[in-house]
Amino acid sequence: MRLRKQKEENSNAPLIQLVDIHKIYKMGNEEVRANDGIDLVIDKGEFVAIVGKSGSGKSTIMNIIGALDVPTSGKYILKGKDVSKLRDNELAIIRNKTIGFIFQQYNLLKKSNLLANVELPLLYAGFSRRERKRAAMEALTKVGLEDKWRNFPNQLSGGQQQRGAVARALAGKPSLILADEPTGALDSKLGKELLDFLNELNEEGNTIVLITHDRSVAERAKRVVTIYDGKIVFDGNVDEYRKQVLA
Ligand SMILES: Nc1ncnc2c1ncn2[C@@H]1O[C@H](COP(=O)(O)OP(=O)(O)O)[C@@H](O)[C@H]1O
Ligand SMILES: [Mg+2]
Repeated sequence: MRLRKQKEENSNAPLIQLVDIHKIYKMGNEEVRANDGIDLVIDKGEFVAIVGKSGSGKSTIMNIIGALDVPTSGKYILKGKDVSKLRDNELAIIRNKTIGFIFQQYNLLKKSNLLANVELPLLYAGFSRRERKRAAMEALTKVGLEDKWRNFPNQLSGGQQQRGAVARALAGKPSLILADEPTGALDSKLGKELLDFLNELNEEGNTIVLITHDRSVAERAKRVVTIYDGKIVFDGNVDEYRKQVLA
């Protein structure tokens, strides 16, 4: 009975579990506590915004959630697996299989066409050539860029480049889409379109974590986590968030 219970609990494990995460940078004699005791659980299917002003520790926690970096102390359980002490190469494997990234600056490779850009993470994740092309074209179709697959980034508008970056994040059907200031380089109309699209992806079951300094962007998520001086100071649904911002 006991065993059976445990098994059930594992299959219901949260997607992300951060337990007392600290990230401390040493600058000479000074310590910067970029993350100072973060506890956060995110379930499959959630759409969470992490919001805070500049220097509050957003990029630090995003790097940890994204398996780009490990904490100084604390535990990070991703899909039931403790990844807090893995080496770089082990982190890279988890990252490529599990997480789709969307950055403010799109980060498309200038010398590769759109298709090759979208295929690249699939290459790292070990997809076959045929599977890469199929999955990349499917993702490009999803963002409405199927006709642009031959184009190089400089032949695309800013909005198209960001949609290309979204396709790249989606193509491997990751467990988590992690977006760092994804609307930061877009005008307000394109920014709204991108946030609408992230909402659609969430409605389809994708888990999204959105990092932003902008409250109006954070309000497009379903749950908002506010970070200040490396600590979580608010965690609630978006309606509660709106109320406490107004209060
Ligand atoms: N590599 C680093 N070395 C030293 N200090 C850092 C480093 N990265 C971030 N910090 C410091 O940690 C704090 C949090 O930074 P960061 O996570 O980038 O905040 P945010 O993304 O919210 O602007 C800041 O005080 C910043 O200066
Ligand atoms: Mg930052």
